[in-house]
Amino acid sequence: MRFLITAGPTREAIDPVRYISNRSSGKMGYALAEAALEAGHAVVLISGPVCVAAPAGAEIERVTTAEEMADAVQRRMDTGCDVFVMCAAVADFRPRAVSARKIRKSDGLASIELEPTRDILATVRPPKNRRVIIVGFAAESDELEMNAQKKLREKRCDVICANDITRMDTGFDADENELNLYFRDGKKARLPRDTKLNLARELIKIFMMIAENH
Ligand code: CTP
Repeated sequence: MRFLITAGPTREAIDPVRYISNRSSGKMGYALAEAALEAGHAVVLISGPVCVAAPAGAEIERVTTAEEMADAVQRRMDTGCDVFVMCAAVADFRPRAVSARKIRKSDGLASIELEPTRDILATVRPPKNRRVIIVGFAAESDELEMNAQKKLREKRCDVICANDITRMDTGFDADENELNLYFRDGKKARLPRDTKLNLARELIKIFMMIAENH
C-alpha cells in the first residue's frame, strides 16, 4: 500500500521574522510514517517544520505554509496513494497581507487582519474512480465526541482519530497519546494511553482492516 502522511505544523508569515503557527511536534505523524514503513508499506511524508528525525525509507517533502501543504498533498494524491492520513496541525488562519520588511515595535502594530487557509482534509480529493482511505485527526479541548463526529461527516473521512488536548501527559510534544476513533460506519474504538509509535502501529493495522473491507 502507498501511504500519504502529513505531519507537523504549518507556518504563516506575518513579516520576515514572525509567523502564526500551531503547537505540534510532528511526533504522531512521524510515528505513523515509521509504523507504516515497518509494516512494509511505501510512505510519502509531507512535513511542516519540525525537529524530529525523518524515518529511514520515507520519501519526505518539506513544506512551510498551509497552501504549500495543500499543493503537495493534491499533487501526491493525483500521482497515487491508497491511504491518506492528515495528521498535520494546519494553521486555520493566515495574515491577509505579509509585510516584506520587519514590522518595528515603533510601528505600533494594533492588529493583524487574518483570512482562513484552505481546509486540506475537507477539500483535497482523490482522482475519480480511485478509492483512497481518508484519515483525519481531531484536536479537541471540549465536547470531544460531538466535534470529532462533526469533522468525520463534514470532511468526509473514513475515520477520525481524536485526542483530548487539555491533558498534559499526552498529546502535544509528549511521547505518549491516547486516541478515540470514530468510523464512517458509526463504530467507535478507544486506543488507551501508549507511546505514539505503538499507537501508530495499531492505527496502521486498523487502516488495513478498513482497506480490506472495501
Ligand atoms: N485540517 C486541514 N486543513 C486545515 C485545518 C485542519 O486539513 N486548514 C485537518 C487536520 O489536519 C485534521 C482535521 O482537519 O486532520 C481536524 O483538524 P482540527 O484542527 O481538529 O479542526 P479544525 O478543522 O481546524 O476545526 P476547529 O478549529 O473547529 O477544531
